[in-house]
Amino acid sequence: MTRILVTGGTGYIGSHTCVELIQAGYEVVVMDNLYNSSEAVLDRIETIAGTRPKFYKTDLLDREGLETIFRENDIDAVIHFAGYKAVGESVAKPLLYYENNIAGSINLYETMAAHGVKTLVFSSSATVYGAPKSVPIREDFEVHTTNPYGSTKLMNEMILEDICTADPEWSVMLLRYFNPIGAHPSGLIGEVPNGIPNNLVPYIARVANGTLEYLRVWGNDYPTVDGTGVRDYIHVVDLAKGHISAVAYALEHKGAEKVNLGTGNGYSVLQVLHAYEKACGHELPYQIMERRPGDIATCYADTEKAASLLGWKAQYNIDDMCRDSWNFTVRNPDGIK
Ligand code: WQD
Repeated sequence: MTRILVTGGTGYIGSHTCVELIQAGYEVVVMDNLYNSSEAVLDRIETIAGTRPKFYKTDLLDREGLETIFRENDIDAVIHFAGYKAVGESVAKPLLYYENNIAGSINLYETMAAHGVKTLVFSSSATVYGAPKSVPIREDFEVHTTNPYGSTKLMNEMILEDICTADPEWSVMLLRYFNPIGAHPSGLIGEVPNGIPNNLVPYIARVANGTLEYLRVWGNDYPTVDGTGVRDYIHVVDLAKGHISAVAYALEHKGAEKVNLGTGNGYSVLQVLHAYEKACGHELPYQIMERRPGDIATCYADTEKAASLLGWKAQYNIDDMCRDSWNFTVRNPDGIK
């Protein structure tokens, strides 16, 4: 049985990917420092998929802990989600982000190499494109980051490409996620943000369940269908399935590939809000505010490469995403403890 180490496996995208990996017949080992998630997620994964992954509470900065995982398990490939991911926090605390997301990742890559594990799927982000010159965005578009979080994603991509150049035995998939939202249809796993959410859909979910008063819409003077920001929202289960296609490809090929994981469709803030009203069954109050610094008007993926290289295409639509987000929110008012 092919054994996959999932770093950050109790997190939002990591946990959904563990479910899909188990259901696809892989053996899963999870490493997480539980900074942003709870070990109870492993029980939820077991309830959905029938197997509880072997778990190591380990930090990327703990070389000995990483060494133990690779010594005790014959790992065939790694899917690397672990990392800090709040854009605003990264601006305030750049060294925390560079230490964890860069130095920590280098620890992982060095430990992999020392154990002859040279197959990796990396959790990158469409944020590496910055403000694109046009849409849809293709993988060969220029990259330009505007915050330390995005820079750590781009730097990891560069490090991994250089590793592949130096050692052609490596196989690396650099997956650029657009805007992951939603939750597993079971309602057992989903996004559990720390504190007041920065991202749109987790915030709307809190307005919908009454814990936040109204949605602040960051600007309605963009050159878009209704003036509000347009993004490529992708169901987290579609995203997880994209990782199954990517790891299967990586196990059969060498070298580095950048792949967008998006739907190719853009939805505005107000279009998402109205889709969520349909899901939750009641009106959601909002107020138009000034633009949020650093935001771009429109961002959505060209999905051709994921289709031709991986044979993967997103299946869920925006109504599915909002329905599953609301179902998780209702079933887990206090997150996953
Ligand atoms: C989406 C739209 C906002 C909140 C971010 C990160 C990116 C990636 C995905 C990790 C924009 C508007 C939002 C709110 C609003 N994360 N909005 N009111 O900024 O596209 O991407 O998350 O990889 O790195 O930058 O996502 O959900 O924050 O915003 O009006 O309370 O919703 O202006 O148009 P974003 P988002």
